Amino acid sequence: MGRNLTRKIIRDHLVSGEMIPGREISLRIDQTLTQDATGTMAYLQWMAMGLDRVRTELSVSYVDHNTLQMGFQNADDHRFLRSVAARYGIVFSPPGTGICHQLHLENFARPGKTLIGSDSHTPTAGGVGSLAMGAGGLSVALAMAGEPYTIPMPKVFQIHLTGRLQAWAGAKDIILHVLGLLSVKGGVGAVLEYAGPGVDGLTVPERATITNMGAELGATASVFPSDEQTREFLTRMGRPEDFAPLSADPDASYDQVIEIDLDSIEPMAARPHMPDLVVPIRELDGLAVDQVAIGSCTNSSYTDLKTAALVLRNRQASRNTDLFIAPGSKQVLKLLNREGLLEALLDSGARLLECSCGPCIGMGGSPTSAGVSLRTFNRNFEGRSGTQDAQVYLVGPAAAAQAALVGRITDPKTWGAAPEKPTLPQDVPSIRHLFIMPPPQEQAQGVEICCGPNIVPLEEFSTLPRKIEAQVLIVLGDNVTTDHILPGGAAVTALRSNLPAISKFIFNRVDQEFVVRAEKAPAGIIVGGENYGQGSSREHAALGPRHLGVRIVLAKSFARIHKANLINFGILPLVFANPDDHARLTVGQAIELDTVELASRTEIPLQILEGAEILVRHDLTVKELEIINAGGLLNMARVR
Ligand code: F3S
Repeated sequence: MGRNLTRKIIRDHLVSGEMIPGREISLRIDQTLTQDATGTMAYLQWMAMGLDRVRTELSVSYVDHNTLQMGFQNADDHRFLRSVAARYGIVFSPPGTGICHQLHLENFARPGKTLIGSDSHTPTAGGVGSLAMGAGGLSVALAMAGEPYTIPMPKVFQIHLTGRLQAWAGAKDIILHVLGLLSVKGGVGAVLEYAGPGVDGLTVPERATITNMGAELGATASVFPSDEQTREFLTRMGRPEDFAPLSADPDASYDQVIEIDLDSIEPMAARPHMPDLVVPIRELDGLAVDQVAIGSCTNSSYTDLKTAALVLRNRQASRNTDLFIAPGSKQVLKLLNREGLLEALLDSGARLLECSCGPCIGMGGSPTSAGVSLRTFNRNFEGRSGTQDAQVYLVGPAAAAQAALVGRITDPKTWGAAPEKPTLPQDVPSIRHLFIMPPPQEQAQGVEICCGPNIVPLEEFSTLPRKIEAQVLIVLGDNVTTDHILPGGAAVTALRSNLPAISKFIFNRVDQEFVVRAEKAPAGIIVGGENYGQGSSREHAALGPRHLGVRIVLAKSFARIHKANLINFGILPLVFANPDDHARLTVGQAIELDTVELASRTEIPLQILEGAEILVRHDLTVKELEIINAGGLLNMARVR
């Protein structure tokens, strides 16, 4: 039996483990990327390891999220990131150069390589045949140190494409169709591998739109074969030498096969507030639109923006609709400019934004209150746009531009003849000179790291004591999210590289006294209900409590990623042997736990002083216990 593409790349990078779905495997990582919002902490973690130079083939630090400089914090963070990159051998992409995934695709992604990035849309690079995965900042820091990346061996689903996209249908409509079929959980634990005759007609930017939104399906990664389209793209990007052919064996097997006939795909939209609430756009005919935003790492390529520009050329956007355009990179912007399309966009009434994430994370461009916003982005969660009651619909660039013209959604049947599908021109201008390449190692030794007041080096966490004497700091119900633990918002995220400062916000929306209590206690225990820590993967929701002295979280059950983060930062995740014991714990109680017994028993007593003992359980592997005993993964990786 032959191998599919995913298994080929995994086999080539396998450090340990068996390639049986669900079993733990460790992979050698060729490339890493970070963006600024998660990158500052990733590099603080990297620096805490005490190494001199990254050990990957390539590591790139992009600045695309918090590009607005309205106070010193973001500016300081950018300077910090630039100096870290120069000091440790990392390529630096300055703010304004573009969005990390678009830039990586254009300049660095290579077929058959492994890439992890501290951003969930890192799988975009699967458009050229990389096995690209989103990961936590600590995992990225460890990969830069040459450590393998550990994941459960994924299943592999084949998305078998036949036929050709018809007029007005685009790559966004394909992935929205897949989301409608599989739902936002449909890709969990799997790599989505695209194959079949329909693949041939899709360009790399189209493929990248599809692999980008594999993240919305919960997939580990999405990957396309590396073929003539890939060769063509890499050649136009000025790097034909990076091409390598890559495909599945003809008799490869898959865990599941999903058939899609591209001829049947029509323009689609995802309704508020989930990317899988998908309907054909004709069903929304007549819906008034207050705002249209074209850009993001999903749809900001030259071909995407040219599609929009060709619709808008020589016409004006509706006076009732705000139109924003955020090109994915300066290369895209230069191409549009050269072809007179920038002028066409500006003359249509569009507002041109910086080449960055911008409105995708509510960094400007928020819709009016209760407004309808049509966006070519990948996420439409409630409040993400910066306007809590906005109604955000996700569409492709053609549908977005059509709606901008008339101020409402219209049936594609009325759009007239579709323009010819844009393709990249032969002589694409390079922007490689805008990246700041690191100096050679001897010179790099002398680079000073710029730490403004917002950059606070990570403390060294203590190892696990033989006996934990702690105080119950908070008792929570079910489904506590990482947002409850640490709220988002500009005021908080500006402190992401300052652990002491950001920790002051831990649980502050739930219990104003939590931090004061934690600071007074010798050590802390958090008591939770079912599914503790669900939501985003933000590491600070574990790092903050750790900074405040929390050594145990005792819950009825845990969300998977948060539990992994707790372990990585040296906090013991324990569950009640009898969930009813949750009711016996109250704030202020003192407890004791003998940690020596953890190695030999999965069920141990937790002593409530001035009360009875209760039984608690763990399911930690030998390796996880080792990490917690060391005080966290970072301590294990530190060079002593
Ligand atoms: Fe940026 Fe939005 Fe992508 S925040 S990296 S454009 S999902």
